[in-house]
Amino acid sequence: ENVIRKELSSLHGMPFYESFIEGWPQVETFQARPDDLLISTYPKSGTTWASEILDMIYQDGDEKKCQRDAIYNRVPFLEMKVPGGPSGVEQLEKTPSPRLVKTHLPVRLLPSSFWENNCKVIYVARNPKDVVISYYYFYQMAKIHPDPGTLSEFLENFMAGKVAYGSWYEHVRDWWEKKREKPILYLFYEDMKKDPQREVEKILQFLGKVVSKETMEKILHHTSFQQMKKNPAANYETMPAALMDHSLSPFLRKGISGDWKNYFTVAQNECFDKHYQEQMAGSDLCFQMEV
Ligand code: A3P
Repeated sequence: ENVIRKELSSLHGMPFYESFIEGWPQVETFQARPDDLLISTYPKSGTTWASEILDMIYQDGDEKKCQRDAIYNRVPFLEMKVPGGPSGVEQLEKTPSPRLVKTHLPVRLLPSSFWENNCKVIYVARNPKDVVISYYYFYQMAKIHPDPGTLSEFLENFMAGKVAYGSWYEHVRDWWEKKREKPILYLFYEDMKKDPQREVEKILQFLGKVVSKETMEKILHHTSFQQMKKNPAANYETMPAALMDHSLSPFLRKGISGDWKNYFTVAQNECFDKHYQEQMAGSDLCFQMEV
């Protein structure tokens, strides 16, 4: 009850959930282990998809083992804290190595022990137009968020960085720059849609793992949108309805690239493009707005 539809607070200038801020001292001092694998994303960029792929790799393609628990328990969410349950940090402390860790934190707020231990990071980025639409629907169904208002209002807030986790532009750019000095595999949602096998192969190579052809086929099948949508261990339907209301919008909503075209007006698109150019000027990071 304490977290439902509350306005966001601020954590070092980043709009953030008040209940997560309460758990921040434990996050800041979190002890990463050298064999932790961090899955980092701006929200709605393919976190759950990447998490399911990574767990399938870690379980050597055994889909039964990947149904042992919900995705949010198999891959604990580092900075998560809501009253009445274990925090992400508490979950992680009980997780045996090698751990998969989920975060949405921007580079500047990531606990320093990840850098000190040179932990491998898989970052997934998605084009901002699809992110904002996905985020708009997520705000509606995930009641930890304030009311998103109209799409037009939400679009403005997104562009201004006034949504949970702040500026998308800063997030994707800072993680992109960080990969020059740290072991970060930077993936794109659109590439995963176009050729999932090629992206899974990139992940395997990054991890120094090899799988059989049969295991690869199992990974691709089990992590397809259709399979994940009907898998209770992957689709978040086991979350308490008070926190996530799937009747407003399912967590696995459409799973496509270019859905923004069904929502943006011509004027909104022009305005968004202009702002995008300004924000991304000077960066060699490029996005595919559709596949
Ligand atoms: P849509 O709302 O556009 O459908 P996250 O896990 O970071 O919160 O991202 C959620 C988005 O990823 C949702 O996008 C969801 O449908 C999509 N997604 C989840 N699993 C997917 C899969 N296997 N294939 C394609 N998209 C997937």
